[in-house]
Amino acid sequence: MERSADKGQVAVITGGGGGMGRAIARRLGKRQVLLLADSDRDKLDAAALDLVALGLEVETLVGDVTDPPFVANLVRVTESLGSLRTLVHAAGLSPSMAPGRRILEVNLVGTALVERAFLPLAIKRTVGIFIASQAGHVPPFGDSRDALLDNPLQPGFLDALASEAAQGADAYSISKRGVIRYCARRTMDWAARSARIMTISPGMIRTPMTEFEFPRQPLMKAMLDLTPMKRWGSAEDIAALVDYIASDEASFLTGTDILIDGGVTPLFAARGR
Ligand SMILES: NC(=O)c1ccc[n+]([C@@H]2O[C@H](COP(=O)([O-])OP(=O)(O)OC[C@H]3O[C@@H](n4cnc5c(N)ncnc54)[C@H](O)[C@@H]3O)[C@@H](O)[C@H]2O)c1
Repeated sequence: MERSADKGQVAVITGGGGGMGRAIARRLGKRQVLLLADSDRDKLDAAALDLVALGLEVETLVGDVTDPPFVANLVRVTESLGSLRTLVHAAGLSPSMAPGRRILEVNLVGTALVERAFLPLAIKRTVGIFIASQAGHVPPFGDSRDALLDNPLQPGFLDALASEAAQGADAYSISKRGVIRYCARRTMDWAARSARIMTISPGMIRTPMTEFEFPRQPLMKAMLDLTPMKRWGSAEDIAALVDYIASDEASFLTGTDILIDGGVTPLFAARGR
């Protein structure tokens, strides 16, 4: 197993029991101690077994990223393990997994809670990487209403968006647009600590989430057919990008979003025009 000087530094991965989370953990775990968090204990245990079998150092914590005491505990455990090198926030719900309000809460409010809680741990070379989606680049939401998304921790935030985000698919794309905007707006605060913050917007990636969602969302088949690269993305495609963003080679990369979608988003956004 390849080891480097990063040992003793911690990679925290929320959604660590999920498809992307596990693939990202396999990469980052080669250089950093892993702390995986997920609301699903069985998935988390399976991921930990897999990673330990590879000789990686793994701690796990079961809980919900929308629960502030859980997030605070995650921060405490991170501090007990060492210094924060990489935070990957991959916990999320897809359109058919919950009512719209809950999707917005997990995907966007959860992002803001995790970002705020971990910022004090950021030091030189720390990178926060938040998983958004290509759905955040596609209407229904428009520029004129974007300001509604910008303060997810404000009281009444979920109520203000209740009608916009009543449907799961709308809630999903609104939440991911909010993630992109929110994280970009946090760039200065991370930079003040010589740290970086990024979002990634994946397209069609084959994971347990898409196994669940694909039969329920006919638009996903249309999107796959439109994808110029003519294939699904893999969790490893995402992990490779995370690995790069988290590295010192990407030290001038912050405050922006990277689409990793096989080229489909502009075609999908323009369909029917
Ligand atoms: N798979 C895709 O095609 C795709 C595309 C674009 C964006 N994304 C985003 O990428 C991220 C990772 O997705 P994935 O494909 O690995 O999905 P996944 O379902 O395999 O993993 C997501 C994990 O998040 C966990 N989770 C859900 N709600 C949680 C909560 N409240 N607190 C803690 N953990 C919670 C789940 O238990 C699951 O293990 C998600 O944010 C998703 O929206 C996925």
